[in-house]
Amino acid sequence: MRKNKEKDHFMSEQPQVIRREDYTAPAFLIETVELVFDLDREATTVTSRLSFKANPDRATGAGDQVVLDGEDMKLLSVAIDGTALAASDYQVDATSLKFNAPSDQFVVEIQTRISPVNNTRLEGLYVSQSAYCTQCEAEGFRRITYFQDRPDVMATYRVTINAPRDSCPVLLSNGNLVSSTDLDDGRHQAVWDDPFPKPCYLFALVAGDLACVEDSFNTMTGRDVALRIFVEHGNEDSCDYAMDSLKRAMKWDEDVYGLEYDLDLFNIVAVSDFNMGAMENKSLNVFNAKYILAKSDTATDTDFELIESIVAHEYFHNWSGNRVTCRDWFQLSLKEGLTVFRDQEFSSDERSRPVQRIKDVQRLRAGQFPEDGGPLAHPVRPDSYMEINNFYTATVYQKGAEVIRMMHTLLGTKGYRKGIDLYFERHDGQAVTCDDFVRAMEDANGVNFDQFRLWYSQSGTPNLVWNGEYDAKQQTYRLTIEQKTEPTPGQVIKSDLQMPIKIGLLGRDGDELLAQTIDLTLGKQEFLFEDIAQEPVVSFNRDFSAPVNVGTTPSHDDLAFLMGNDTDAFNRWEAGQKYASDLLINAVKAFGQSGNADEALGDVDAFCNALRATLTNDDLDKAFRAQAMILPGEAMLSEQLQPADPEAIYQVRQAMRRKIGLSLQDEFEAAYRNNASNDAYSPDATSAGQRALRSVALSYLAATGESVFVDLALEQYRTADNMTDRMTALMVLNDQDHPGRDEALADFESRFASNTVVIDKWFSLQAMSSRTDTLAQVKKLMDHPAFTMRNPNKVRALVGAFAMANQRNFHVADGSGYRFYADRLMELDDLNPQVAARLAAPLGKWRKFDEGRAAKMKAELNRILAKENLSRDLYEIASKSVAE
Ligand code: TRP
Ligand code: ZN
Repeated sequence: MRKNKEKDHFMSEQPQVIRREDYTAPAFLIETVELVFDLDREATTVTSRLSFKANPDRATGAGDQVVLDGEDMKLLSVAIDGTALAASDYQVDATSLKFNAPSDQFVVEIQTRISPVNNTRLEGLYVSQSAYCTQCEAEGFRRITYFQDRPDVMATYRVTINAPRDSCPVLLSNGNLVSSTDLDDGRHQAVWDDPFPKPCYLFALVAGDLACVEDSFNTMTGRDVALRIFVEHGNEDSCDYAMDSLKRAMKWDEDVYGLEYDLDLFNIVAVSDFNMGAMENKSLNVFNAKYILAKSDTATDTDFELIESIVAHEYFHNWSGNRVTCRDWFQLSLKEGLTVFRDQEFSSDERSRPVQRIKDVQRLRAGQFPEDGGPLAHPVRPDSYMEINNFYTATVYQKGAEVIRMMHTLLGTKGYRKGIDLYFERHDGQAVTCDDFVRAMEDANGVNFDQFRLWYSQSGTPNLVWNGEYDAKQQTYRLTIEQKTEPTPGQVIKSDLQMPIKIGLLGRDGDELLAQTIDLTLGKQEFLFEDIAQEPVVSFNRDFSAPVNVGTTPSHDDLAFLMGNDTDAFNRWEAGQKYASDLLINAVKAFGQSGNADEALGDVDAFCNALRATLTNDDLDKAFRAQAMILPGEAMLSEQLQPADPEAIYQVRQAMRRKIGLSLQDEFEAAYRNNASNDAYSPDATSAGQRALRSVALSYLAATGESVFVDLALEQYRTADNMTDRMTALMVLNDQDHPGRDEALADFESRFASNTVVIDKWFSLQAMSSRTDTLAQVKKLMDHPAFTMRNPNKVRALVGAFAMANQRNFHVADGSGYRFYADRLMELDDLNPQVAARLAAPLGKWRKFDEGRAAKMKAELNRILAKENLSRDLYEIASKSVAE
């Protein structure tokens, strides 16, 4: 009864579904855009002058009506070819402006008024701290002025900014600065001109009182490019690493892709209110401040790593995204998958390749695999959406990057580069499709990717099972591989995919008998290897060459052997993860009967010995050894259990950590001692690896339960001279019942109270504590003066971390975690629907849990669906998540 009522309520307001198959070319093109901004916090006037031309490729019968998108603004006037339109000459509603085209070529002038200070959605023009900034991707430009807000409408822009000189000394937009002029009444003006045609989602404007750090880069053809990073005053000393990363990224793109920067200046602005990580606007990248600002005492090694990769990512978009852009938003992975692959490879070249691969795969497994196996599964190139902002997903980004990587593997480095060269040569200045990209790869290499293309259209993670048979007489090894993809919502029938599988056959003595990349194309396929002199141990899917689940679990002996002997570093790590998962999963199941985690785990000495061999192997890079010590996370273990019991998983994993800590105590103590550093902090990969190994040691020592090691953590906190060591210590203390915890948290708070980026670490830490008072603490922290629901970083740090990174407490059996979370999502939905929707996925995981939890999670989703004025963003996620 109640359910029906809710349904009816929504039937009438259900948002429209946009389908890929409905794409039609725009009837009109806009070739030049002139914008004039008269900036004012409450009432900014935007004047736009657009030169229209009928599209020669328009669909037949397209008609002569011009439809422009526009939202949340006041239309002041419209004129065509210099003549103002009467109210009867156009129609305006909540989302559009329509009028008839007078001819095939005409100029439209539109005046609108918008209110940046009231823009809590942070899309379009808004105010962050004291500065004005814009965010237009995906569809934010329509909140600035009426326009054909679609990426296949590309124009050159000339932008005039008028603003008070004292509050806005800095006035920025895309392209080149044409002029700066003083106006009367304390205002001044800047005019910017961007010669490269671009879609409106790449438009940007920034104005405010910002400090600037400058440097320059000399390109491969000898041009000097001025590099500037704009930040809040006082942060000038925190830009060095971002600047250095930018220069290294520019050089790398020249060396590896032959791609040179194309303007004489490149600007980055860091703002503290931002919906995502960063944005690649042409020559004016806008960043979430947390991905720019870093000093040794404010940023961890992981922060430095992220800054490096995100600065590179946005820079790389200048070619993969800006010079060649997307025809429509279904093609988002064209730019995102490719650019993620590019930034991953950049990081691999700058740091440790195997460790980078391990981290990328961890991220894929933690974020993308659950998405692909859950209610929000969609192909890399989706077929439909309600709200495009909901499709900036792990599938489009991370799986999209894996698809590019597989093409790289199939074609080899040279063949891949030939394809890339053809792609940019063919499509420079165009808005194209994923299919155009694959065609360039095919044409440059004379290959056929018809079957491979399925990776773009088929959702779901393939499951592979392999079986080996050794024939001692014939000296052959027969490997049989089967692939199967489970149905996903709306896509029941699955096809067999083409994928490159790297394998190795190892002799018991550690000799590599064979290393090869095989081309899997069938549902069941046999591969015969000859001249194999002894029964081998198989190293399967090396380097994670295909993004799949592998169901075959080798024996514990073989896994221990691979941990110590595989020549593929990724698979050494992978063997340890498989071994640990197998032990932990079995123990979680046994825990259900006994309730005793130690007993459930039983004897894990063999596993501990294999870990010991890795920990003490000085031939291995320290960053790798640190990674190899870390057990699969609680969420990862949940993925392998049905239903998953979060409390049992937590207890068993902790018990395992304790056993490892006790078994390897001497080695961890030695690692802790031997990896202390007397040198000044440096963020380079080698030093970071040393710190990572020392951190792992401390954390296992504390897991023994010996209070001396908690004291050691407190000591490390007190004496830390860099944020990495400080956070490691605080993370250990954070889960303890120890006065040192309060001391350290209080110290951290007072030390960093005025640093909005750093204080988020303090919020997150407390939200992620395994202590049972965590929800109460999180509720209390919502009243902290530094917390506000209006800042996405704050919401993600406190509320988001609680649901996404604290499985034990979010899933507490009485449902209080779910209820708290749904309340916050609804509150946020009224302020910033995009961020609310991005945070909603955890409630959609109800299928993974027992009936009691599942019912409570669904009830919260239904409560959200019954909310008044529910956004299209959150409606799409909640409705898809609740569906049986
Ligand atoms: N294009 C950006 C990137 O991946 C992502 C992005 C930034 C974004 N801000 C956004 C996407 C706002 C949607 C909405 O580099
Ligand atoms: Zn991107």
